[in-house]
Amino acid sequence: MAHAEHPVPVTARAKGPLCGRVRVPGDKSISHRAMIFGLLAIGETRITGLLEGEDVMRTAAAARALGAIVHHDGPGAWRVQGAGVGGLKQPEGLLDFGNAGTGSRLMMGVCGAHPITTTFDGDASLRKRPMRRILDPLELMGAVVVEQREGGRVPLTIRGPKEAVPITYRPPVASAQIKSAVLLAGLAAPGETTVIEAEATRDHTEKMLRHFGAEVTVTREGAHGRRVVLKGQPELQAAPIAVPADPSSAAFPLVAALIVPGSDILIESVMTNPLRSGLLATLREMGADITVESETNEGGESVATLRVRAGGLKGVTVPPERAPSMIDEYPVLAVAASFASGTTRMRGLQELRVKESDRLAAVEAGLKAAGVTCHIDGDDLVVEGGNGNVAGGGVAATHLDHRIAMSFLVMGLATQKPMQVDDGAMIATSFPSFIPLMNGLGAEIE
Ligand code: S3P
Repeated sequence: MAHAEHPVPVTARAKGPLCGRVRVPGDKSISHRAMIFGLLAIGETRITGLLEGEDVMRTAAAARALGAIVHHDGPGAWRVQGAGVGGLKQPEGLLDFGNAGTGSRLMMGVCGAHPITTTFDGDASLRKRPMRRILDPLELMGAVVVEQREGGRVPLTIRGPKEAVPITYRPPVASAQIKSAVLLAGLAAPGETTVIEAEATRDHTEKMLRHFGAEVTVTREGAHGRRVVLKGQPELQAAPIAVPADPSSAAFPLVAALIVPGSDILIESVMTNPLRSGLLATLREMGADITVESETNEGGESVATLRVRAGGLKGVTVPPERAPSMIDEYPVLAVAASFASGTTRMRGLQELRVKESDRLAAVEAGLKAAGVTCHIDGDDLVVEGGNGNVAGGGVAATHLDHRIAMSFLVMGLATQKPMQVDDGAMIATSFPSFIPLMNGLGAEIE
């Protein structure tokens, strides 16, 4: 089991209805990309609403090591003076990405296409995660993997070519990280780099490429896929970025309000990008009372203020093709399903095995520790709902995984006995204000 150096056990217990109005921090995916594009642009990129979690701070440190000048002006407000595509400097030491899969994989795309030699490392969780999926296309583009741990794991060292070769690539799994790594590498290549995905994944990289002046075309491919074509070697021009609130973080207060009887909360300005909205669609199918109070646009993304009221949920089957649009939300959906009436089957969850932890195993174990009947059937997770009644009283092992920790703390707000997580330290990677924000709504998490 992976452990933090100083595990911090945290307990959540039922106290009463949640009420109030909250805004969750900036989107993690967009925040990583904001730092990376700031590095690759010419001029000064001004960022507001940046998520100041540990993961994004690792990416900021890497951007500095690669030649960007990064200023912190105040809460969420940052300025990045870029080095420009082709202008990266050879970093002096290794790049330590901590727990951050997105930061490390996207930066591998950047560095693997530049004539520098870069060593990537991370914590015990990152050291277990597969990087071959990124190294394979980078090798096709001319990168040389000088050193790697078994199966392509960090610590690993990549030497980029003098000039990267443009490729057409079909990622073997639906992954925005693979797509983004190839596109970011394609910035340094002449000609067109193409990614063809069988299932559309989050499109933040494509949108930001356009926002910084690159030429990108996106067309439909098959029933659910996309073909993304990037014209290489653009001069990216710095552009302002307003980071909208993270729907993957909003998922925690949202599910908490659905399962704690009598709750009625507002969650402000949550990004509703359709490629990130699978959880909302699923919860609505389950009968959740979620209404849109107002809708607007922030930084090129639609955002909505959501009103969430507790109420009876019923079990559903979640189709596998929905997975890319809610990939990080399955742990907390499994918590919602535990309180529903009837069975919920979440299909096609193989990718959950290679997240910050093996989330399929961690969710199953945590649910069982709370007295929920559930099982893994191939790549599906099947949860028998307790119709509002879940015993709790157990300890969920978090395996250095922030979303496992937050999911089981949300669960403990509605179980008969409190739920404990063995370590809440990793919550700081994506949602440092999680505990005060939840307690401000009336939760008891300590
Ligand atoms: C992310 C993509 C997803 C997601 C991760 C963030 C991104 O990973 O799980 O938290 O910002 O591109 P995969 O692309 O590996 O599915």
